[in-house]
Amino acid sequence: MLSINNEWTLLFSFFFSTKSSGPFVNLGCVFLGVKLQPDFISLILKCRLSGLIVDIFADVAVIASSAAWVEKYRQEIQFLVNKVSNVNHIKWRSSADILKEEGLDISEQKEPEPSSHSGTVKVMENDIIYLVSLEGQKTGFYADQRESRHFISTLSKGQRVLDICCYSGGFALNAAKGGASNVIGIDSSASALDLANNNIFLNNLDTQRISFVKEDSTAFMKGAISRNEVWDLVILDPPKLAPRKKVLQSASGMYRSLNALAMQVVKTGGLLMTCSCSGAMTQSGLFLRTIQGAASMAGRKVTVLRQAGAACDHPIDPAYPEGQYLSNYLLRVT
Ligand SMILES: C[S@@+](CC[C@H](N)C(=O)[O-])C[C@H]1O[C@@H](n2cnc3c(N)ncnc32)[C@H](O)[C@@H]1O
Repeated sequence: MLSINNEWTLLFSFFFSTKSSGPFVNLGCVFLGVKLQPDFISLILKCRLSGLIVDIFADVAVIASSAAWVEKYRQEIQFLVNKVSNVNHIKWRSSADILKEEGLDISEQKEPEPSSHSGTVKVMENDIIYLVSLEGQKTGFYADQRESRHFISTLSKGQRVLDICCYSGGFALNAAKGGASNVIGIDSSASALDLANNNIFLNNLDTQRISFVKEDSTAFMKGAISRNEVWDLVILDPPKLAPRKKVLQSASGMYRSLNALAMQVVKTGGLLMTCSCSGAMTQSGLFLRTIQGAASMAGRKVTVLRQAGAACDHPIDPAYPEGQYLSNYLLRVT
């Protein structure tokens, strides 16, 4: 098993938004650390293309494609990724819906080369072992929240922690490792919670202290409010509610409602880490205002203690602000 703990040689994330036409910094050459074909380098450098993510988990590279150019150069990309030391398998994942928006229908296409690995792989991040499903959400793992997950571990000693929309349990596991007295993770996805429950055992954690519940986040929080139940530290990391600018207004309403509920399950003086992975929301600069709207709705006051984005292997090119997608605020809630 290989570690993905802040080691750039083991985890490469060529993350970029799904927009393939904007200016874009080429990171592939830097991260790959292999000699790339000059034609390919110049193609990426000149065109500054986006729509390609490569996350490497142990010896498996997961390539997520969401742009026509990535599909077109599939063979070349696979050839190059194969050259990364330690990579023995490639899993290609195409976002059929986004590609369709670009005018490329891959539904009828025959898989040119089946992936050489399917199933799960074990990785380590922040000294925590995770089972990553290669069929799971995103590339199988939300590598982008790595630093914020670690930050949560530093705040958790003796705390009661609630991780809403927990996926494979990342924030919850860090809280438990950090000495939380009790941790609950909530997610609506059964397959995500299978991973999360596996992760409890992989890390020899006490099931009296950490557990995962399959429930809709809104229903869970409303239930907790009706029971007057509160937590010292709450994490809210919902799915992308504003996948495009057009739906930003309705998504803002959803973010506001979710955050208002989350604030009501934080004890007075407790902490809320609230996130948005919607590029449209982050780039609009409206997330903080939405949070303030939620505080008014909940009758609470909030103070921003920390502001973060994606981990450092997801750098931003100032010429390409569209690459900024993740917002993460730590709030004191009174
Ligand atoms: C951005 S991911 C969370 C990533 C996670 N915090 C981590 O660090 O790995 C969002 C999660 O929300 C879950 N989800 C989506 N809709 C939900 C709902 N209505 N109620 C609860 N969870 C939901 C998804 O299954 C997904 O696991």
